[in-house]
Amino acid sequence: MRRKTIDDLPEAALRGRTVTVRLDLNVPVSDDGQVQDDTRITAVLPTLRRLREAGARLVLLSHFGRPKGAPDPRYSLAPVSERLSALLGAPVRFLPHWKGPDVTEAVGALSDGELLLLENTRFDPGETDNDGTLGEAWASFTDVYVNDAFGAAHRAHASTEALPRAVRAKGGAAVAGLLMERELRFLGSALADPERPFVAVLGGAKISGKIDVVEALLGRVDRLIIGGAMANTFFLALGLETGDSLVEPDRVDMAKELLDRAGDRLLLPVDCVVADRIAADARTRVVSRTAVQPGDRIGDVGPDTVRLYTDEVAGARTLVWNGPMGVFEMEPFAAGTLALAEAVARAADQGALAVIGGGDSALAAEVAGVSERMTHVSTGGGASLELLAGAALPGVEALSPAEAS
Ligand code: 3PG
Repeated sequence: MRRKTIDDLPEAALRGRTVTVRLDLNVPVSDDGQVQDDTRITAVLPTLRRLREAGARLVLLSHFGRPKGAPDPRYSLAPVSERLSALLGAPVRFLPHWKGPDVTEAVGALSDGELLLLENTRFDPGETDNDGTLGEAWASFTDVYVNDAFGAAHRAHASTEALPRAVRAKGGAAVAGLLMERELRFLGSALADPERPFVAVLGGAKISGKIDVVEALLGRVDRLIIGGAMANTFFLALGLETGDSLVEPDRVDMAKELLDRAGDRLLLPVDCVVADRIAADARTRVVSRTAVQPGDRIGDVGPDTVRLYTDEVAGARTLVWNGPMGVFEMEPFAAGTLALAEAVARAADQGALAVIGGGDSALAAEVAGVSERMTHVSTGGGASLELLAGAALPGVEALSPAEAS
């Protein structure tokens, strides 16, 4: 079901109204408080600009890291607030509280177009418990709720679930922001009605975290390309030697079953880059997947696999890529992932719809210098995986249906 977005709201619904915006400002910050990657901050600027121009009074909420339900200075949003303000080109007032009388007073003092960022929502134990009382506390000053935190949409937390439900219960609107709408549009259209051939590339360390995605995608794609250490568990299922590589022995039966079901739709690496250790100065060899030796560690896909995979990707009209092909952070094991990133970008240049799931593959696309050429690079890691697995996202489900008046 389509959910309401900011575009569905008349300007009169925003001017002079208190609009609480849930963002995902969970960005990497160094020990000395420097934001190291501001992709997620930049991604929410269009929504904030649109709301400011409409004269809304903005209260911003976000989680940051995984504090244990209590204030912890390592997880304060203060440094993020400064970067947000610099990128937006407007003052963002930061309040070191997320609820209580100081919040009520600061919200009441907002003028049209002003922004107030509250402290990390996860400093409250009620956030991850999806506590209705906490949701109602935020709803008490909220006229309109906007969720632009795609990266947290798979969490049923107070700021993503209880709050929008409480706002709707008192007759207010709960809508998707521009980033949320874009994420759902691209990932959704890739899945709902893909132009074919539809090729999905899945990598990363573990088959266990992606099993639902593999299953859901197998029913939709023309080809499912597997890379990264998750391929090793499939090798075990084929009875191959994997040396000392990362494997999940308890998932071998599942891998066998998937191989049986997938037939030739599922592609596995045909060769690998191996070494006796995964390290930046490791001495590597390229071997067939049938020639891995005891003691070897597989760190990347080999050049024959790169050729096979890039050919498949070149013919695709719809591409979804989530997870690297190898340990691309280390130069000896980076070639497979970087070649794949370039191949996906080239397909996008030729008009294919190319969507990159968040996290490691977004970083790989960045390292390969090809992010700008993709149709869409998701800001959500776990959220994009859940969507690819066909799961409903609680943070989206809680928003007002587009049909409702
Ligand atoms: C993310 O970084 O993937 C999101 O911000 C969600 O964070 P979480 O996994 O701690 O809920």
